[in-house]
Amino acid sequence: MSKKPYYITTPIYYPSGNPHIGHCYTTVACDSIARLRRMQGYDVLFLTGTDEHGQKIEQKAAEKGVTPKEYVDEIVAVFQKLWKRMNVSYDRYIRTTDAYHIETVQKIFKDLYDKGYIYKGEYTGKYCTPCESFWTESQLDENGCCPECHREVTEAKEEAYFMKMSPFADRIEKLLTETDYLQPKNRALELVNNFIRPGLEDLCVSRTSFQWGIPVTFDDKHVVYVWIDALSNYISALGYANNTYSDFSSYWPADVHMVAKDIMRFHAIIWPAMLMALELPLPKHLAVHGWITFNGQKMSKSLGNVVDPFLLADRYGADAIRYHILREMALGADSSFSNEIMINRINSDLANGLGNLVSRTVAMAEKYFGGTLPEERQPGEFDDALIAAAVSLRGKLEKLLDNTQLNLMLAEIFQVVSRANKYIDETAPWILARDEANRPRLATVLYNLLETIRMISIPLSAFMPETMPKVWVQIGADESDVAYDTMDTFGKLSAAVTVQKGDMLFPRIDVDQEIEALNQMILDAQPKEESAEPAYTPEPLAKEIGMEIFAQTDLRVAKVVACEKIKKSKKLLKLQLDDGMGGRQVVSGIAPWYAPEDLIGKKIMLVANLKAATLCGVESNGMICAADTPDGNVRVIFPDDSLPVGAKIH
Ligand code: ME8
Repeated sequence: MSKKPYYITTPIYYPSGNPHIGHCYTTVACDSIARLRRMQGYDVLFLTGTDEHGQKIEQKAAEKGVTPKEYVDEIVAVFQKLWKRMNVSYDRYIRTTDAYHIETVQKIFKDLYDKGYIYKGEYTGKYCTPCESFWTESQLDENGCCPECHREVTEAKEEAYFMKMSPFADRIEKLLTETDYLQPKNRALELVNNFIRPGLEDLCVSRTSFQWGIPVTFDDKHVVYVWIDALSNYISALGYANNTYSDFSSYWPADVHMVAKDIMRFHAIIWPAMLMALELPLPKHLAVHGWITFNGQKMSKSLGNVVDPFLLADRYGADAIRYHILREMALGADSSFSNEIMINRINSDLANGLGNLVSRTVAMAEKYFGGTLPEERQPGEFDDALIAAAVSLRGKLEKLLDNTQLNLMLAEIFQVVSRANKYIDETAPWILARDEANRPRLATVLYNLLETIRMISIPLSAFMPETMPKVWVQIGADESDVAYDTMDTFGKLSAAVTVQKGDMLFPRIDVDQEIEALNQMILDAQPKEESAEPAYTPEPLAKEIGMEIFAQTDLRVAKVVACEKIKKSKKLLKLQLDDGMGGRQVVSGIAPWYAPEDLIGKKIMLVANLKAATLCGVESNGMICAADTPDGNVRVIFPDDSLPVGAKIH
């Protein structure tokens, strides 16, 4: 019988900076699922890759003085190296710069145009360059910035092609609310309320303001813009509308697309709309996870050196990192990353829990029986509870796997680890070993432990593929003993099993020492502060004056109590000062550099005896001291806060 196909994908990542632990999460999660499905007998195709076009890449390459392709080639190599380091078993790697993908995208674009779903119009709106996203006014955040990254957006207006979205709105709403396409489903309502019910806006699908993209075949000033290019990867990689692969009919529709919440909308609305327009079946599941955050912020490239996955894998092993990130993240929720939490988890779950269970069991089998168990058995108290926990694991895990709840799968497996460690305490083999007559009972206890380890090691090998083969050597399991279908069969190891002591699986880490070492590395990795002052040529010195002249200038410390912009002027701010002498109003030309709220509450240096003047119709009684920076900006001089208002500066 031929194997059932199973198709799973990660997003294709932007190679605009090196990969970080956030990218590792999705990729390692998909890898674990792919491995489990292969073990279950599916014919798995696991796809990952890189999304290499767009304005951001074009800009970054220009800054570096290389071509966009040279720029992405270098970073793609780092992504691929990381996946190797993390033992990611992808079957296919797609790059959107691959010729076959370009061919597919061009055909899809033309097809959608011919079908009347794509039309030419004019784009006016807000554009966020880092996110490569257009936003409507109403979607911007409370500061008028990008709702995703909260950076400034720019006004954009240009000829563009659009894809009609409204013909698909009803079907998409049903897909989200009436099927289990979206996992977790509670996110569906937010999409329906925020995007579908207010009326789906047409999607801008081409740009003319940059070149680094796939040309539109019938209008070559346009390049395909982001989502038709990116989302099509899932089918171009199977050979849809190209001849490089011929897997479309076997693997489509996908079983799981996994993405983080930042791109949920595109996969939950735009991708189904595109597929509906192309009259193709829809993917079975979209699994959406949260972000790995660091100090509450989404982990990003700029934080990459703080949690460099290469560095972490070298220090603790790829499996420990895989375990930690998969165990921490619940589907749909964010998970906060901290070195301390990671190290504590490695110690508690892997070193003390699993590692200890294996090493104690194997060590006792060696110590009490020279490594090979005698075949005679004597069942006893506590056996049934342990065996029941191990045997029932498979059913629980399979349900959780269907719902992509990997963290809960690991939690279930580690419950059995704890149960087994407790069984050691309950049965106290070291006491049994004191009496020859207990040998059959002692052998039974150790056999039960070895079997439990064997049974949990089968699913664990999908999560920790480097470590479990080492466990199998230690517990004397051969390949047939760890076949997936033996996961709920107790008694698979031979009765006279021979164990073999090995290295410690997960050495305990000294938390304080390790945190200190990591902190030092973070400091070392930070760009060194410029030690020298920036080059600056001071203005020529003014004519010498005597003390009596300087003494005529009355400089005082004053505090800004109120401040506002002068409407008619771009440069002027009106400040109300507490000068310790009843207060005064001063006008200052610092609006280009300071917002009123930057100054309110601050102490400043005031030229207090300057003759009053009127600026833009507003009276000014004095002047605030400031100086120019080398690049022509102006900074106010803020005196030491302990100086009282009214203090004379001399
Ligand atoms: O959005 N926590 O690419 P991208 C968890 N090219 N996951 C994270 C993460 C974090 N802090 N940071 C990134 C793109 N990810 C598009 C996708 S798909 C057709 C096109 C993971 O490089 C997560 O899977 O910004 C997220 O969805 C993806 O990287 C975004 O990667």
